[in-house]
Amino acid sequence: MSIIFDEKHNTVHLTNGHISYIMQLMDGKYLLHRYFGSALRSWNNTGVPRPAKRSYTTEYGDSQIYFDALPWEYPTRGRGDYRLPAMTVAGAVGAPISELIFCSWRVLDKKPESIVLPMTFTGTGKSETLVVECTDEVSGAELTLYYTIFDGVDIIARQQRIVNTGSTPIHITNLQSVSLSVPAGDYDLLTLYGCHAQEANISRVPLHQGVQSIGSSYGSSSPRHQPFWALLNPNTTEISGQVYGCLLLYSGNFAAAVEQDSFGAVRAQMGLGDSSFCWMLEPGETFETPEALLTYSSQGLNGMSHNFHNVLRNHLLPTRWRGVPRPILLNSWEAMYYEVSLSKIEIQARLAKELGIELFVLDDGWFRKGNDSRSSMGNWECNVSKLPGGIEAVADLVHGMGLQFGLWFEPEAISRDSQLFRTHPDWILQLPQVSPREGRHEYLLDLGRDEVCDYLLQVLHRYLGTGKIDYIKWDMNRPMTDAASNALSPEHQAEVPHRYILGLYTILRQITAAYPHVLFEGCSSGGARLDAGMLAYFAQNWTSDNTDAKERAAIQSGFSLIYPPEVLGAHVSIIPNHQTGRITPLDTRFDVARLFNLGYELDLTRCTDEEREAIARQIETAKFDRDWLQKGIFYRHPVIRPGDRMWSMVSADQNRCIAVIFRTLYDPLGEQAVFRFCGLNPTRNYRDMETGAVYGGDELMALGLTLPPRKQDFTTQCIFIQAE
Ligand code: DGJ
Repeated sequence: MSIIFDEKHNTVHLTNGHISYIMQLMDGKYLLHRYFGSALRSWNNTGVPRPAKRSYTTEYGDSQIYFDALPWEYPTRGRGDYRLPAMTVAGAVGAPISELIFCSWRVLDKKPESIVLPMTFTGTGKSETLVVECTDEVSGAELTLYYTIFDGVDIIARQQRIVNTGSTPIHITNLQSVSLSVPAGDYDLLTLYGCHAQEANISRVPLHQGVQSIGSSYGSSSPRHQPFWALLNPNTTEISGQVYGCLLLYSGNFAAAVEQDSFGAVRAQMGLGDSSFCWMLEPGETFETPEALLTYSSQGLNGMSHNFHNVLRNHLLPTRWRGVPRPILLNSWEAMYYEVSLSKIEIQARLAKELGIELFVLDDGWFRKGNDSRSSMGNWECNVSKLPGGIEAVADLVHGMGLQFGLWFEPEAISRDSQLFRTHPDWILQLPQVSPREGRHEYLLDLGRDEVCDYLLQVLHRYLGTGKIDYIKWDMNRPMTDAASNALSPEHQAEVPHRYILGLYTILRQITAAYPHVLFEGCSSGGARLDAGMLAYFAQNWTSDNTDAKERAAIQSGFSLIYPPEVLGAHVSIIPNHQTGRITPLDTRFDVARLFNLGYELDLTRCTDEEREAIARQIETAKFDRDWLQKGIFYRHPVIRPGDRMWSMVSADQNRCIAVIFRTLYDPLGEQAVFRFCGLNPTRNYRDMETGAVYGGDELMALGLTLPPRKQDFTTQCIFIQAE
């Protein structure tokens, strides 16, 4: 891994032997992007397009170089480049125009940290960071670009920081985390879109001339679009072909846009904020962008996913939980909803323990006045008429049975019918003179205010400080409206959504550091805020409120493009399913969950003896495999029939593999199905642990195994092979 400066070509080249990222200085003052892709030994001005004539636009001196045709590394607006800018700021002059001039570049051995934003860290590996300093000649702002390359991880992490060195405020309306120039060509744009209980659907469309964009103005990253894009060659599949991927470490409003110009060249960007974003940077202040992760793979979409999984596992997830097996849990929600009671908890927990479950999670309901979502958020006092003795008594009961105890919170929300609202009505996000909208009978607390964050920290310390809580489910069910603060002057109001996220990160950073042994699970009505920013604090996340096995197969496949399976909560739940009414076999529900973060969300008193025995066997198998599954390499395999899914997990040492084949509806044509393995060692032999047959890794990957027919809908088949 190295960062190499080449004075002959005025370039800097970041490489780790797998990927290369190259920039070039033009005339010692303009920074151009030259290459991102498979590693090069060196770069000698190859592949630079002939200077393209852009008649009747602006030229650079007499040199026949047109600003509108250059592959700018960090483009600005108003000086002759008419494509998407990465930076739009206005200083004392008032015009949102910038002229970004290179000042210097250098290498840091230590990766810079942020005091507020989640960022990747070097960890036990190695990394180097390139720092490029520039000045905006118009606003006077100093902009620093950071590029980190990691050893053994095919990722470039990027971040920007801007300092106002002048004496008047600077208005920032756009500061991208990433702007990437991609050579002219045919590309598909792949993104993940969705809604509540239907998250992470794949959209793959051909790129066309003009701008294609996604984003969120939900206040959170939202279920609408993931803060992620991939640019692929049209013939790229799951297992082959070129992919550029980008992921933003941010949990609030974001925007991503890809522009193909009239000549086919592409500029792809992503950063915080929606179209209303504006930040007033006072003299002497610094503003930093969220970090973004760029990857390149020539191994298809699985290759891209492996790069993301690798960086998130080793350089972002809380260190305490890296590679650590997660407890198998029983969550109370679908069995009890708001109607929780000590006797129900006791019986469910006792049965759970008998089946081998390790953690009992008490979901919503424990603090509510009634049995609905109308009251009591904010004070977080247990309703002792439902649970005499309070939460400590519940924790003692559950611990007494030999289980860990987990508790649900939604700290960011507040009910109108709550003591906190009566005491501090000004603590919510609201506009003066306009009554705030309610969502799920909730308002949002103004997390941009220090006193609100301090209050929430006190509440959490009150519970966690007892030492009786092993797990927190941190929910957030309320998209943002009325994003205005009682504590800010009018010129800072547009900053509220970002200030909220900064407050949230501050709380999460402090509380997770204070209780490193507590497992925090992120949730936002399912996956409405499942993003890489949250992964810095939440080692696991509730993937979707839709727990139907068929729907989950699609949702988990979608999220697996970005996130490693062990961070995605997957529960075996009640049938008929509460979201779809569908009935699927118990085996199918388990198989769809088993490669992910396995849990149960069932009323165990309603299971038959046979079902309970089957669940006990499932849990035994899951415990046997979870160590290596947690660190395994996950593959999505191409399927012929829409709705079917084929996955496999190969252990990091290539000794074992579990394949899961999910079929939606029985189809006679499906009887010809073959499962071809991926990622095995071609020189080793593997035994099919069910049939005892032995095959070469090479033949299992080239030809695969023929799947036995199954005359049933919503079935799964699993193949477990082990190296000889
Ligand atoms: C939404 C979550 O996704 C559910 O799992 C559950 O925790 C409810 N909130 C509780 O209100």
